[in-house]
Amino acid sequence: MLVTSKEMLERAKAGGYALVAPDYYDNNSCRAFVQVAEELNQPLVLSFAAETHDSMLSLEEAALIGRYYAETSKVDIALHLDHGTKFDTIKKAIAYGFTSVMIDASSCDFEENVRRTKEVVEYAHARGVVVEAEIGHVGSGETYSTSQDDSIYTEVEDAKRFVELTGVDSLAISIGTAHGHYKGTPVINFERLHEIRDALDIPLVLHGGSSSGDENLRRCATEGISKINVFTDFVVAAFEAAKNGNPKDWFELLHMSDEGIKNVLRHYYRVFNCVE
Ligand code: 13P
Repeated sequence: MLVTSKEMLERAKAGGYALVAPDYYDNNSCRAFVQVAEELNQPLVLSFAAETHDSMLSLEEAALIGRYYAETSKVDIALHLDHGTKFDTIKKAIAYGFTSVMIDASSCDFEENVRRTKEVVEYAHARGVVVEAEIGHVGSGETYSTSQDDSIYTEVEDAKRFVELTGVDSLAISIGTAHGHYKGTPVINFERLHEIRDALDIPLVLHGGSSSGDENLRRCATEGISKINVFTDFVVAAFEAAKNGNPKDWFELLHMSDEGIKNVLRHYYRVFNCVE
């Protein structure tokens, strides 16, 4: 069933687990994610990053495919636009039927981030769509440094003021993860996570889940994060499964890569404390 992410995020927050938010990039990955959610009888934040990832799909194609699998599914599926930086992309996503959108103005200064987020919140809420924003910028793993200076972490007071000023539904924060694979080992600032969790009422989101370490992610999921975004681990697993499986033809190769993706998603449902 196609739903917004509002209630499922609230349930995750109250239940001490995190939803998995995988980014799909073609029909197969979209179907594989929904099949695993059904197999485990769990909700899913089915995400599509129209502007950032090397996708095989246009936004309109992604919406048609995502809606088809969500609407015909037995479990709750939110169709989420990941990392929308342009208002135009967000408006199109809403028109095509996404039930949840992210406005990512995290590389702007505080005032501009507030202005852009507020504009999207007003537009989306008027159409029954929920909004995620980001404060404190989650950068790239390639430029990650283990000797992070404190400025990369989201400030508690900024997060509080940001939520009050924008009315956003969920908030992505920077506590030490990065997008893609890491140069070095990720260092998560759990103390900052606890401070932000205690200061805010809305669900918190973590970007850059891939290769952040199961122990770290488990702690994030049980200590205040309600949704974790994952992308790189899926495409790596799809490629590895196909490469190592010695497929005899193209269809077997596709089948193997689907299985690779599914195993990663099953794994993260367990790590994020959604299932035993
Ligand atoms: P990873 O590619 O590091 O898993 O990050 C995904 C992400 O945060 C998408 O929003």
